[in-house]
Amino acid sequence: MSTNLNELLKSKAINGWNLFWLITTPISLAMIVKMTRVDLSSAEGVSSMIQLAVRCAVPPLFFAFAASSLPVVFPGSISRWIARNRSYIGLCFAAAMGWQLTFILWLVGIHTDYYVNQVYVLSDVVEGVVGYTLLIGMVLTSFKFGRSRLTPKQWKLLHKTGIYWLWIYAWSVYWFNLFYYESAPLLIDYVYYLGGFLAWGLRLSAWTKKRSNADGGQNVLLLVPGVAAIGIGLVASSFGRAWSPQVYEYLFGFGIVEYLDSFTPYFPLVPFYPLLIMSLGAFLVVRSRG
Ligand code: HEM
Repeated sequence: MSTNLNELLKSKAINGWNLFWLITTPISLAMIVKMTRVDLSSAEGVSSMIQLAVRCAVPPLFFAFAASSLPVVFPGSISRWIARNRSYIGLCFAAAMGWQLTFILWLVGIHTDYYVNQVYVLSDVVEGVVGYTLLIGMVLTSFKFGRSRLTPKQWKLLHKTGIYWLWIYAWSVYWFNLFYYESAPLLIDYVYYLGGFLAWGLRLSAWTKKRSNADGGQNVLLLVPGVAAIGIGLVASSFGRAWSPQVYEYLFGFGIVEYLDSFTPYFPLVPFYPLLIMSLGAFLVVRSRG
């Protein structure tokens, strides 16, 4: 069984550019079919195209975000296949974001009033424009001509900053859909929220596993608070509506927070507080292993 799977996962048909076309062709077909079914002369129609494009983009984004950690946490042929094709999965995300950008420009250019009155928020634009700038840099440096213009350190910094910035953007959209807005969340909001959380969790697990000295002693005074912090973060990530309104009310009691929130990307980072607590927990667990 595993030999067949190994052979299959090594086949040309599902690796490299073949994998890219295997994923992006159905995405592009879905976009074209949707274009024939919505009223593109309306802002709502164009906006629904943006939504579909980004909903196709998010799964490859989360897989690209978790790809390097998967073989560390779950060694095996499937995780190696995903890690081996990380850059092509990243380019699949970029292709779907290319569709989103097309309809964003359509919305902003043709339905400007709708965009200004219904969509425009300065901090969102900063997040989005920086996101696209990083994404374009990541795409160009995924090819030899672009990569050759950066040192390996610069390349790593660009791709790490870029993938975190874009993950933060996408995942926080679903956090707000689940725990902030009054309207009832959709099933896809839960699925993408959990998917983004698991992708980040894999990175944290890989970080912890790589740095844990298995032969080292165990310092319970660090291990217990570490595990407790991870537990608290997990609960807080699952029940955001139970604590976030109070945190927002407290933070927005300070004028400076309201001022900074208007233009600073992702500020004041409330969706990420549980992840920061879990990161502190993982750090303590690693330290407890001496
Ligand atoms: C300046 C750039 C951007 C603009 C103007 C923009 C605009 C929009 C608009 C209008 C929607 C709502 C579509 C609808 O529900 O009808 C949307 C949804 C969304 N956008 Fe963007 N976007 C931008 C950049 C980005 C970037 C860089 C990402 C990163 C991955 C992203 C991720 C999302 C997500 C996750 C949704 C929610 C889709 C859903 O409802 O499931 N956007 N965007």
